[in-house]
Amino acid sequence: MTKIRTIGVLTSGGDAPGMNAAIRAVTRAGIYNGFNIKGIYRGYDGLIKGEVKPFTTEDVSGIINRGGTILKTARSKDFMTPEGKLKAYETCVREEIDALVVIGGNGSLTGARDFGMEFDFPCIGLPGTIDNDLYGTDSTIGYDTTMNTIMVCVDRIRDTANSHERIFFVEVMGRDAGFLAQNSAIASGAEAAIIPEDMTDVDQLAQFMGRGIRKSKKSCIVIVSESPKCGALYYADRVKKEFPEFDVRVSILGHLQRGGTPSAHDRILASRTGVGAIEALRQGQRNIMVGVRNNEVVYVPFSECIRTDKPFDKKLITVLDELSI
Ligand code: F6P
Repeated sequence: MTKIRTIGVLTSGGDAPGMNAAIRAVTRAGIYNGFNIKGIYRGYDGLIKGEVKPFTTEDVSGIINRGGTILKTARSKDFMTPEGKLKAYETCVREEIDALVVIGGNGSLTGARDFGMEFDFPCIGLPGTIDNDLYGTDSTIGYDTTMNTIMVCVDRIRDTANSHERIFFVEVMGRDAGFLAQNSAIASGAEAAIIPEDMTDVDQLAQFMGRGIRKSKKSCIVIVSESPKCGALYYADRVKKEFPEFDVRVSILGHLQRGGTPSAHDRILASRTGVGAIEALRQGQRNIMVGVRNNEVVYVPFSECIRTDKPFDKKLITVLDELSI
């Protein structure tokens, strides 16, 4: 096994608040433990093109509190091709990078797994995504901040919803996962959440309207998980048609959910997993994601965290149902 001297760090996929704290942690813990650190810009695309810069501790000063990622990010199509991966490997050889730390979500860690296996190259993943959909870690870097952002937005929407006595459908991100929608609905006291995990056998809208919420409440807020087929606009249209007596509005929160200063929770998670990534490499680990489960830093094989669906606690649905009467 090649001795690891230089570690490359990159961010990939959708940015998430706390990615900078993770870059800082990997850089500082790496240098502290005697490694050289190189920052790779624009995710795997930058690795392919050789956009690499040696990092000192000063390069990551003053970034723990900043949203986004100083390394920039991308969703690389080229990296999915054998030619792209080969070019990325050639950059590693040229730059004398012996291991990679990849901060990103499902797609990014899948890329790290494939690259690691194909070139027998040590790769470590950090769970960086607002969606919280990675198996093996209680939460992902960015999820807590985004949930708080949604909560603040919904608090504001409630003021105007109350004043006008309207139904608001608020669409939030999460790709195929309802963690953001369900938990932000609980946190903001919303009347209902419409999530992919509960979409199989019941018409959630009919169920919600059937509860007669409007009989007891003059206004209400429904948080809807984004979906190309049945997002907030779809449900708002249905209510307008099926219940024309209601005054309905839609608010799609969009990318404002991904920006902003990271919460304490995300900064600490990023710092712990960043330090954990360096520790993992020192131990000779590879092809794993570093997560935090039950407040312990854990190493989860890529094969598990990518392939296994993160379980959604259905009791959260009961919590919201019981509290929204
Ligand atoms: O994966 C993070 C995420 O924000 C998802 O919640 C969302 O579906 C997607 O990225 C949006 O991607 P883009 O920034 O390319 O529009």
